[in-house]
Amino acid sequence: MDLTQLSTLASQAKNRSIKSLFSIPVQTELSFTESSRAQQFSLSSAGLYLDYSKQNINEDELTALLTLAEQKQLSAKIAAMFSGQHINNTEDRAVLHTVLRASDETRKKILGKQADEVIQTEEHMEKIVDDVRSGHLLSASGKRYTDVLAIGIGGSYYGIKVALSALHPFHCTGIRVHVIANVDGGAIQEKLSKLDVDTTLVVVISKTFSTQETLLNAQAIKSWMLTSPSDGAANNTIMAKQWFAVSTNIIKATAFGIDEKNILPMWDWVGGRFSLWSAVGLPLALAIGNENFSRLKAGAREMDEHFQVADFRQNMPVLLALIGIWNRNALEYSSLAILPYDHALRALPGYLQQTDMESNGKSVSNNGEKLPWSTAPVVFGQEGTNGQHAFMQLMHQSVDIIPTDFILALNGSSKYLEHHKVLVANCFAQSEALMQGKTLAQAKEELQLAGYSANEIDKLALHKEMKGNTPSNTILMETLTPKTLGSLLALYEHKIFVQGVIWQLNSFDQWGVELGKVMGNEVLAVMDGQSSEDLSCSTLNLIKRFQEQSTIVK
Ligand code: F6P
Repeated sequence: MDLTQLSTLASQAKNRSIKSLFSIPVQTELSFTESSRAQQFSLSSAGLYLDYSKQNINEDELTALLTLAEQKQLSAKIAAMFSGQHINNTEDRAVLHTVLRASDETRKKILGKQADEVIQTEEHMEKIVDDVRSGHLLSASGKRYTDVLAIGIGGSYYGIKVALSALHPFHCTGIRVHVIANVDGGAIQEKLSKLDVDTTLVVVISKTFSTQETLLNAQAIKSWMLTSPSDGAANNTIMAKQWFAVSTNIIKATAFGIDEKNILPMWDWVGGRFSLWSAVGLPLALAIGNENFSRLKAGAREMDEHFQVADFRQNMPVLLALIGIWNRNALEYSSLAILPYDHALRALPGYLQQTDMESNGKSVSNNGEKLPWSTAPVVFGQEGTNGQHAFMQLMHQSVDIIPTDFILALNGSSKYLEHHKVLVANCFAQSEALMQGKTLAQAKEELQLAGYSANEIDKLALHKEMKGNTPSNTILMETLTPKTLGSLLALYEHKIFVQGVIWQLNSFDQWGVELGKVMGNEVLAVMDGQSSEDLSCSTLNLIKRFQEQSTIVK
């Protein structure tokens, strides 16, 4: 079976209501009952519970997808990734973020001598955290650090951001950690207004140390921090004590002024969007402490182990991926909503937007051929219940069906227990409402019961109809902890990898972002007075307006 045949395979599903699947008896290990779909289409692993019974899929269709996964040699591809084969073929690199959270024994087996570097980097990172916490590491003026400012963008930012907010209750070091990504002077100004030069430690995170936004931000923060008028010796001390970097590019980082002993390495086998587990996680560890950072990795490791050994029918990342393939290629839905019902997970939709869309938003196979099928969906989302009062209107009543992942911790982290109960109720209710919808007949009956006249019912009923039949997953955890967060992030990492295998593309490069970077420089040159034959008159006109009206030019 091929991906192009999935749409035909789904002809029955396209005209089927998800609700009807609940009335079909299904076989479970427990018994042969009508209500067992919830058991058969759910599983637990690594502290997470996945319910996918509200998907528009039956056992036969799932079996066909599992066969497809076998045909695409998924088992061999998983083994290839974990063993360090160069599966990122367009860049000729291994993909080994999993080794960063593996046992030392596994690290040595996969990396050989390089395992020592990984272990030493981890120890270095832990020492920095301990020394900052204990006051052993002080600022240039001899003060204890109160704040850490991390500068990075894309994969050198999203992971830290999502984990910093998700693990807020676990911030235990007394150090406030801030992240700056966008090249926006307003954002820098706002951040710096809250910081004190004498008590702020800076970490520049850039795998390449050549990303325009990061370098410009680092430069601005350097100017803010260094003495004016310039005192060379004092500035050298500030750089040596207060500036750290995480990068593969030691030469550029030292040229920027960061002391070599303060540069923690990265390796070309860790992709930016999978790099939280490396020294990129230093700012996070400075907030949550070394023990919690280890727990985060332990959660991810548990998911890695499950992913490698579980039978595909009981394999959480594989099932999540196959369901996504079913929705994208068989039912032809083009988006995916990520709705964490948890304020702490508010950054998760943005994080997954990058991991999913930058990994699989491609249309060429790893053999360099045009792909005849659709790939990554448009990922968007927001914390619930806020989304209910915004875009969920469209999800209930537009013609587009938007598959959704609901994510929820059964226990909240606050003392407001009633709030959490209401939040949970809303989460469960939304998945039910999206699936059940409301028929025209039900809408009419409701209006009739409410005392509306026949004329009014005719006018209003269609407005009250809800299309329903929107598929969703619900991912539950007992509590959001470093460990369950680690499992959750690894779950999505592996889901994305599996989808890349099925779609036959390389999930680990990102050539698509290059053109914008190149053109950005070209536009900048034109803004500075150079001519260009490549830019359209639309863009040239916009530049002209900037030149006429911006105070920067005048
Ligand atoms: O968004 C493109 C990208 O290359 C990402 O893949 C990467 O995470 C980000 O830019 C930042 O790159 P760097 O860590 O090299 O500064």
